[in-house]
Amino acid sequence: MTTPQVPHGIDPSKAHPARRYNYWLGGKDNYAADRASAQVVADAFPTVALAARENRAFMRRAVTYLAGEAGVDQFLDIGTGLPSAGNVHEIAQAITPAARVVYVDNDPIVLVHARALLTSSAQGATSYIDADLREPRKILEHPDLARTLDLSRPVALMLVAVMHFMTDDDDPYGLFRTLVDALPSGSHVVVTQATGDYLTPEQYAENVAANERSGVPFRLRSREEFARFFTGLELLPPGITSVVEWRPEQEPQDRPSVADVSMLCAVARVP
Ligand SMILES: C[S@@+](CC[C@H](N)C(=O)[O-])C[C@H]1O[C@@H](n2cnc3c(N)ncnc32)[C@H](O)[C@@H]1O
Repeated sequence: MTTPQVPHGIDPSKAHPARRYNYWLGGKDNYAADRASAQVVADAFPTVALAARENRAFMRRAVTYLAGEAGVDQFLDIGTGLPSAGNVHEIAQAITPAARVVYVDNDPIVLVHARALLTSSAQGATSYIDADLREPRKILEHPDLARTLDLSRPVALMLVAVMHFMTDDDDPYGLFRTLVDALPSGSHVVVTQATGDYLTPEQYAENVAANERSGVPFRLRSREEFARFFTGLELLPPGITSVVEWRPEQEPQDRPSVADVSMLCAVARVP
């Protein structure tokens, strides 16, 4: 048996969020440590793969809405993940071929796949920045961002399934504010966040303990904690909901339960 080659800069012995998420979505870009971590979480929250798919489906609906009805043609997608069916630029450029997208992630394996993310339409543009959400200024001041996006025109900031990796020590509200403050009026912010609100107290405690054991720092947030991110922003209807319930008309109407998905979302406008 041959050992698969591990790309430079990647530690396969340590679970990583992007590779674990890739496993839940049925992808092949993950290692034994990622699958072991995924199993620890799945033992406490057996519907986690469904939650990953529903999160992704929400992201698709939000980008479709923004590129279509809202007329947004610039996207800053932080916490991109590994390329999967329906990346942000593919969804946006199918509606607006000239749409421009900057992807940002801090996982070296996403960097390895960045070329696959950069297959823009001829009219539009995509770029990839290898950076950490905990250093928002570095992202905003990166030359590739200025080359791809015009920050004097509205941008959609995508923080989809990434804020829950920011623990309280990371100053999640402060870094969120730094990013939003850099966006002009008419911009949008799209956020999803894992929550324990729909779980019983026992399930909640089990999930917190499993996340601690899984080796990936993770912070569930209540609706109130999630709402704090949107202070001063205009929430678009239907406001803060489960990803299952956000404009679900085009999805099969047998919707999963909010507890099985346990993910909050919102799309807000910068006034
Ligand atoms: C669960 S995936 C979500 C992917 C995609 N946004 C989606 O919703 O389908 C989370 C992504 O956030 C990235 N991530 C986690 N912490 C990060 C950080 N501090 N800075 C940048 N990216 C981060 C991970 O590498 C991973 O690719």
